[in-house]
Amino acid sequence: MTAAAPGPKTNMGQPVPRYDAAAKVTGRATYASDMPLDNPAYAFLVTSAIAKGRIDRFEFDDAKRVRGVIDIVTHENAPKLKDSKLFSNGGYAGTTIQPLKSAEIAHDGQIIAVVVAESYEAAREAANRVKVSYTAAAPSATFDSPGTTTAAAKGQSSQFKEDPKIGDFAKAFDAAEVKLIASYETPTQHPNPMELFTTSCAWMGDHLVIYEGSQYVYGLKNGVAEQLGIDADKVRVVNPYVGGGFGSRGSMTPRTAIIAAIAKRLNRPIKLVPTRDQGFTIATYRAETRHEIKLGASRDGKLVALRHEGAEVSSRPDAYCVGGTKTTTRLYACPNVDSLVSIVRADRNTPGFMRSPPEVPYLFALESALDELAVKLNMDPVELRRINDATRDPIDGKPYTSRSLMACFDEAARAFGWSQRSPQPKSMSDGDWLIGYGCAATCYPTAMAPSAARVRLQRDGRTRVEIAGHEIGTGAYTVIAQTAAERLGVPLEKVAVFMGDSDLPPAPVAGGSNSTASTCSAVMMVCDQIRQRLLKAVMPSDSLADKAKETVGISPAPSTQAAKGDRPLDIEKAFDALGVGVVEEYGEWKPEGAPMDSFRAMHNGQVRLVGGHQMKDKIAYAFGAEFVEVRVNRFTHEIRCPRLVGAFAAGRIMNPRTARSQLMGGLIWGMSSALLEATEIDDRYARYVNDNLADYLVPVNADVPGVEVIMLSEQDDHINPVGAKGLGELANVGTNAAICNAIYHATGQRIRKLPVRLENIE
Ligand code: MOS
Repeated sequence: MTAAAPGPKTNMGQPVPRYDAAAKVTGRATYASDMPLDNPAYAFLVTSAIAKGRIDRFEFDDAKRVRGVIDIVTHENAPKLKDSKLFSNGGYAGTTIQPLKSAEIAHDGQIIAVVVAESYEAAREAANRVKVSYTAAAPSATFDSPGTTTAAAKGQSSQFKEDPKIGDFAKAFDAAEVKLIASYETPTQHPNPMELFTTSCAWMGDHLVIYEGSQYVYGLKNGVAEQLGIDADKVRVVNPYVGGGFGSRGSMTPRTAIIAAIAKRLNRPIKLVPTRDQGFTIATYRAETRHEIKLGASRDGKLVALRHEGAEVSSRPDAYCVGGTKTTTRLYACPNVDSLVSIVRADRNTPGFMRSPPEVPYLFALESALDELAVKLNMDPVELRRINDATRDPIDGKPYTSRSLMACFDEAARAFGWSQRSPQPKSMSDGDWLIGYGCAATCYPTAMAPSAARVRLQRDGRTRVEIAGHEIGTGAYTVIAQTAAERLGVPLEKVAVFMGDSDLPPAPVAGGSNSTASTCSAVMMVCDQIRQRLLKAVMPSDSLADKAKETVGISPAPSTQAAKGDRPLDIEKAFDALGVGVVEEYGEWKPEGAPMDSFRAMHNGQVRLVGGHQMKDKIAYAFGAEFVEVRVNRFTHEIRCPRLVGAFAAGRIMNPRTARSQLMGGLIWGMSSALLEATEIDDRYARYVNDNLADYLVPVNADVPGVEVIMLSEQDDHINPVGAKGLGELANVGTNAAICNAIYHATGQRIRKLPVRLENIE
């Protein structure tokens, strides 16, 4: 299928098929709960039916009558665990709400008991028979609920450090020729990865093995060890394949240490497979947000003032927030900028990362507002963005390492046929269908983190790459194998990659779209160490320095330049000269500007992401432009989205096939987020109502008949050795706004609250 494997342009790798494709489609890929355990017991969770209050009493008589019940663990008899610290505050956890610690209830669906039995069915049956009496208090569910408290987010979470400001916003806004003030809202969403939030724990003496889908095996290993009070070297996390994560597996959830401790006490391996609805409350999610945008512009469209105020919901104890103003204040040139982010505390489980956490809600607001401003200015929205395109970070004045935003707009506009749009709302139709064209920008910070790798080369070219990275479905095995094959000059089919195991050299969290840049940079560096050794063996010593320089990729853009500048290395000859059977190297790579404690933190499973606007002397983002066609039925108000066209520039594209797949997935997710996805909350009980995949709407193929992905050639020598910008979280960012902008064009109605459904069209 040529459509599925676009040919590479300049500075792109080969579109080789996925390394793990056959294993996945034949069922040979083993996910965490597929791992065979020796004589396991099965756990089933009992979760709270109230959101706030306390447990008065359990009744177990009925439950204990189920044949095969081994144990029922509650706060009254649970093994003691140490408290955990939030991921974003230097710890490992996605929540500090620790279940089974006391009778107190912090949110609906909190784990309150674990039933262990000889079979899954027995554990489930017994769990359903556990009776719980509570003293319930009235919970606060979300914005505007009685009892919520609001506070500025600044300083409450190390993840959110600033409310960017520059110039004098108030004065400039006051004096602006054209002004816009608009408010926007985004809903609660749950990532719902296909693989459930399972965990299996098996002890061998005082060593623990955890099989669990994780985006961060080193984080999970260290976090569980800390909670159990044991040495991290005694814990191993294994997950060669992850059934989706989307952020929800980036931080440790309380379930793992609980199951590990019960397995230890019972002296038996335990497998836990929670249900889909339990996944809504035992893991993290995207919290609802509110925004107020103020834009001031001159009549010719130049932005003179921009203010973005955001509010987000979090749990009572944890100040989680995504703070997307760090991006929205830096996307366009504007001399007077102000921003503020606040957190509203409600009786909810702690939210966390979900696919482009800051950019999805915050760019929905900004990119919708820009479209509204374009209407006020009677200007093409693409031209408005061109007029305000930035070459420098408007807050800190640092230059973008590369920025192809307008090139993306131009390519996507051409492919989409934007010039055929008649700008007036309601001016295009086809029978009963009003047609709308809309567009928006997308961007995502380029992140990197320290990573290690071990590479072993044999005389016959067989290569083994070991790195505790994660295959969350993005193509990580594939691009790592490609990197090693290219750098060592061995055929791709001779490269074996081992990932998803905390006994391998540490790699960072598969989050913030940093994996490819980080892991491939580490693998590249270690392959170059091997090349050095081999070259030394076959080269006369006098020319060594020159040759080594020429061949081992001091140059920043590796694979292309390696292919061009390197002389071929005769591996067999080098091995014979060395007189060895295997050459193996281990190395640790860190991005430019990484903190001093980076490598120690890497081994300890602590996150040290560098990138975006936090780079020294520069700012690095990937960019894109998205164009959509919507059709809104005049009579039923049904909304369809027949065409999504996105053009993206993200530095070196390591593999156009896997990259396209991610970008396509992003566009589809973006459409889903605009028109379908939302977790409904029952305000009275602070409870998620549609906590299943029948009622939580996600698109099927018929919802996305036309998705076109264009990847631009972009070379960036200032970001990392492989020259790649993360793109996993790039494509779903602008889509919400593009669709609402198209709905405005189709209907003349500006909808500022997601998702947009037929009942929202008047
Ligand atoms: Mo992504 S939400 O950073 O896993």
